[in-house]
Amino acid sequence: MSVSRSSVLRSSVLHELVLALAGIGLVGFLLVHLAGNFFIYGGPEVFNGYSEKLHGFPVTLWVARIGLIAIFALHVVITTTMWIKNRNTRAQRYAVTVRRAPKGLGTRTMIITGALIFVFVGIHLLDFTFADKEGLNSLLNGESQGLYGVVWNGFANPVRAAFYILLMCCVGLHLSHAISSLCITFGAQNERFVAIADVTAKIFGALVAIAYSSIPVYVLVQTYLLG
Ligand code: HEM
Repeated sequence: MSVSRSSVLRSSVLHELVLALAGIGLVGFLLVHLAGNFFIYGGPEVFNGYSEKLHGFPVTLWVARIGLIAIFALHVVITTTMWIKNRNTRAQRYAVTVRRAPKGLGTRTMIITGALIFVFVGIHLLDFTFADKEGLNSLLNGESQGLYGVVWNGFANPVRAAFYILLMCCVGLHLSHAISSLCITFGAQNERFVAIADVTAKIFGALVAIAYSSIPVYVLVQTYLLG
């Protein structure tokens, strides 16, 4: 019995460690991507210039993309496996006490927000990455504005903008639990640290959601209120 108990604990700790490392990579990507997206506030030249600069280093870009796909896949496979295992295992069979993040809304909706983000990334790539950057969707006042025009026209559609804002709230909610779990994995084990990690994670999640959502909100305000 004690062998099975310690092997359960060991495999769970290993999963959480790999998950935490992949999580750090994904949070890093989200912050860098957010910073890049903020160039939209500089106008078409600044935003398109940033995108063209990125695409000017194809090898580096592809190495980063492959790394991102690998950690995203790792994250999805491990979390889904753990979720299925947790559903099938009655935790009380093992007298093992592992500290977990407090069970708020973010924790309870983790699998739902995770699945929604997974679907969102597919739609998002079709929207922007694989879009025709010189086509009809890039036109503003009859002139192609490249990727800037594609993003602008995308968010000038209130349904699409609302979809993005809703999904950015899911990203924030997902992060609010993920960051708290990360802190616990890396040692926040006493009550006080767990509480501090939980509040910090909620603030961080909210800030990321607000910062990303500011882009579709900005386009809507410019188009319908100031345009
Ligand atoms: C308002 C929110 C967002 C905006 C305006 C936005 C904008 C963009 C744009 C314009 C691109 C194409 C870049 C290019 O081709 O040069 C892109 C690519 C991408 N975005 Fe977003 N994004 C947003 C949120 C997110 C979120 C929350 C995620 C992740 C959950 C994400 C993941 C990606 C990925 C994986 C790519 C492909 C990167 C690549 O081609 O190397 N985006 N995004």
